[in-house]
Amino acid sequence: MLIRPRRLRKSPILRELVAETRLSKDMFIYPYFVVPGKNVIKGIEAMPGVSHFSVDTLIKDVEKSLKIGINKVLLFGVGEEKTDDASSSYDKHSVVANAVRELKKEFSDELYVVTDVCTCAYTTHGHCGIVQHGYVQNDQTVDVLARMALAHAEAGADMVSPSDMMDGRILGIREKLDKNNLENTAIMSYSIKFASAYYGPFREAADSAPGKGDRKAYQMDFRNPREAMRESRLDEQEGADILMVKPALAYLDVIKGLRESTNLPVACYNVSGEYSMVKAAGAKGWIDEQKVIMENMYAFNRAGASIIITYHAREIMEKGWI
Ligand code: PBG
Ligand code: ZN
Repeated sequence: MLIRPRRLRKSPILRELVAETRLSKDMFIYPYFVVPGKNVIKGIEAMPGVSHFSVDTLIKDVEKSLKIGINKVLLFGVGEEKTDDASSSYDKHSVVANAVRELKKEFSDELYVVTDVCTCAYTTHGHCGIVQHGYVQNDQTVDVLARMALAHAEAGADMVSPSDMMDGRILGIREKLDKNNLENTAIMSYSIKFASAYYGPFREAADSAPGKGDRKAYQMDFRNPREAMRESRLDEQEGADILMVKPALAYLDVIKGLRESTNLPVACYNVSGEYSMVKAAGAKGWIDEQKVIMENMYAFNRAGASIIITYHAREIMEKGWI
């Protein structure tokens, strides 16, 4: 036998030498849920290890995150007043805008702050847009999203990340930011976001489940990888800086397809349901939790994501798994 692939698997040093995929702390973005009030740290039942924080406790927790190497966070606002027009979403003093201001005051450029831009936690009906005649109105929603993005950017957000899936929202946000001299605020688009049951635990965390119906009239059909490439190409043309695929685990083929079709950085969102399944099976002792978590992280990178948004980031860094 001339060719023996096992030769290169013989020892740990050799395996490290020939490893084709490597992870670094720099690749991770850690999500936080911010709520109104003071001194709040409230665990989210369906997402063990993840909590709601008020702005004051958030600052303290982010300080801990920074110490272990997490320097990029993604903020979600929860518990604001809900109206039909989602007006609390673009308030200059929304909980997210306040959190951004305080984080930037405290940590300045040591911390990179990304905000989620979507209306579902701010509307009475829980849809990711303005509903009229039983339909989520596209262009009206884009206006609201642009105002929301502007409020976050004016508060000091480094990057805004629209997760709504309206048509033309990247352009709408880009133009709004540029008009207000915020041309350096980046946009990470949830450009391929599927209508997925894997968001279940998040909707409890963000109190954002649609009261009636589902999100299939705006989020993508998971049977359509070609349409996914079309969506992402549009976002690129509209000025997106980073393209994201969400969820991640069941969509490695889409991550790979996107990596091959764009020269922009590709991110993936390892969503709440993916997180909670691993935590639940780990708690039962049915899987080796650490090993499964890291196998998933390598899978995302191997598929082509160089940016990983995951609730596991905190534990991975805290326990020195990277
Ligand atoms: C809101 C939003 C959702 C997620 C991120 N932003 C939920 C949804 O679209 O219903 C999901 C995140 C997760 O499940 O971890 N548009
Ligand atoms: Zn939404």
